Amino acid sequence: MEVQTTGKKRPVTSSTIFSATAEQPIGFLDSGVGGLPYLQRARELLPEERFVYLADRRHFPYGVRNRDEIRAIVISAVSELVGVARPKMVVVACNTASVVSLSELRATFSIPFVGVVPAIKPAGATVEKGRIGVLATERTVEDPYVSNLIREFAPNSDLVLVPAGRLVEFIETGVAVVSRDEILTVLKIPAEKLIAESIDVVVLGCTHFIHIRNELSQLLGPGIPVLDSVEGVARQIVRVCEQTGKTARAQQAATGDQEHSLLLVSGGESRGAPGGDAAENYRRLAAKFNLQLLDHEPADQVR
Ligand code: DGL
Repeated sequence: MEVQTTGKKRPVTSSTIFSATAEQPIGFLDSGVGGLPYLQRARELLPEERFVYLADRRHFPYGVRNRDEIRAIVISAVSELVGVARPKMVVVACNTASVVSLSELRATFSIPFVGVVPAIKPAGATVEKGRIGVLATERTVEDPYVSNLIREFAPNSDLVLVPAGRLVEFIETGVAVVSRDEILTVLKIPAEKLIAESIDVVVLGCTHFIHIRNELSQLLGPGIPVLDSVEGVARQIVRVCEQTGKTARAQQAATGDQEHSLLLVSGGESRGAPGGDAAENYRRLAAKFNLQLLDHEPADQVR
């Protein structure tokens, strides 16, 4: 696979990344690497589809920003994605962005959106009366959306919210670079906190955490299930394709995956890529998830 992260930056446009006759891809957006496992599962279910994932690294992290800022940034990022890739739908593969801006996105754009929310409904089905831990960004844990989900789907359980912004940064800059032992060391404190809180089930309320799910499970032990929304979201993507009658034709896959599925990273040098761990992390993740890596320079300069 040819990986392009260096060289003179040029804005990526739809005419440079796809031919005008290509079928419309499924778009993904996250502040960084969090949504990649969602794309992977969606691709398993929809092997003929082409995917374009925008990692809005330029505005990473979303989770420490206020709601208005996040909304403006997300709308701008979706406009970029629509402008460069003409997606037939956009998966907002970020809990923070979904919780804060999904309704605004649906009111602003005419394409369908699939959002990601913490898997509290399945957690409620797992423990009828117990303690549900939600590991998420500061913004998500503070959002009334999460406590409303508990009221609706797990009314007899206690909610224990654990903000873990530092963990997001660690995953964004190094999850594919560091050793498994390093991941276990970093997770020790949040895992101990969850155990001390006598949690019955843990919900990963930030998409970045899917990357360290196995290590967290190892530390928590077999008695504490760790839930995420990957399967539910991937199935919803399939449903939206079916409902809109926009499922890619089988022959599209024949020309090769990498040509069709892209990882666009905004921010470039200003956020440490290329050079440094983040750039290497992106290179390795692009290879692992079989995506072609491209620098993307947003036209809109939202700060
Ligand atoms: N991946 C995002 C989420 O699911 C958050 C990361 C960030 O703070 O930017 O909430």
